[in-house]
Amino acid sequence: MKNIASHLGTNNKFLILGCGFSGSFFAKTIRRFGCTALTSSRSENKDPNSFVFDSENGLLPDEKIFDGVTHILSCIPPDKNGNDPVLDSLKSKIQSLSLEWVGYLSTTGVYGNTKGDWVSETNQPNPLQKRSQNRLSCEKEWIESGLPVQIFRLPGIYGPGRSTFEAIRNKKIKVISKENQVFSRIHVADITNAIVYLLQEQNSLKFHQIINIADDEPCSQIEVIQYCYDLLGLKMPKPILFEDAKKKLSPIAQSFWKENRRVSNKLLCETLGYKLIYRNYKIGLKNCFLNS
Ligand SMILES: NC(=O)c1ccc[n+]([C@@H]2O[C@H](COP(=O)([O-])OP(=O)(O)OC[C@H]3O[C@@H](n4cnc5c(N)ncnc54)[C@H](OP(=O)(O)O)[C@@H]3O)[C@@H](O)[C@H]2O)c1
Repeated sequence: MKNIASHLGTNNKFLILGCGFSGSFFAKTIRRFGCTALTSSRSENKDPNSFVFDSENGLLPDEKIFDGVTHILSCIPPDKNGNDPVLDSLKSKIQSLSLEWVGYLSTTGVYGNTKGDWVSETNQPNPLQKRSQNRLSCEKEWIESGLPVQIFRLPGIYGPGRSTFEAIRNKKIKVISKENQVFSRIHVADITNAIVYLLQEQNSLKFHQIINIADDEPCSQIEVIQYCYDLLGLKMPKPILFEDAKKKLSPIAQSFWKENRRVSNKLLCETLGYKLIYRNYKIGLKNCFLNS
């Protein structure tokens, strides 16, 4: 990765709200460039850079956590009532800070089902699922907050420790085929790297409030699974047709198959000039295979 130098460095203090899979990758990366990064979690842990934030149990960060904060990245999904946990509990506190930038990780679920067509930031969102309708409301609330917010719409996130390899190893894999069904995805390192790139280049690039971060090659799930079995040197079980498999799927798994879209990254990768590290699932999964 290029050095962040011009815009990010020791003067910057990030709060990463929701330090799960993407948040922890982001925190680790920006610390390497000299930034301070404090991360939230819902429970106490031994990490001295971590603090507790749990909106549902009213556990709010201590005031001093906010001292000198310049950047915030929220990686927290809507709560069970559909509200944004950060805005619900911390909106006025955050609005009182002198922030340079706020990032919000959203989902491409807000686009709904495009029956396999490409979808970009200029398409009107058309969320199908209740959780995606909630997500769109949260995006709207962030935009209307008056904060210098940038929204990143993400498809399925994978990376070392969270990929099809784990599903195969834990025997949780379901090999299902559905004709013409594709999914978009993104390697966790590209989420961080793209955000860092945009921050670094902010003076030379036009600001876009909503940006998709997806790889170049949406494809069927079965291609991905087959590729993992091949790398593991194992034989893939015979696929089950979706129509036969669907009765046994959980409601959440069924909802996943109701949406078929190709997420365009042209704004990020052509207009704004970001170069993906893992432009397709093969390169990305090879990285997971070597690091898990
Ligand atoms: N996973 C995907 O494939 C995918 C795809 C598209 C978009 N997204 C969205 O992108 C964002 C990041 O995804 P991810 O998979 O990296 O997330 P993740 O690993 O599930 O982490 C979510 C974080 O949010 C925290 N959190 C959840 N509810 C909270 C609450 N009420 N109060 C305070 N903290 C709360 C969790 O705390 P703990 O650490 O204590 O658990 C965790 O740190 C999320 O909004 C996710 O919905 C995910």
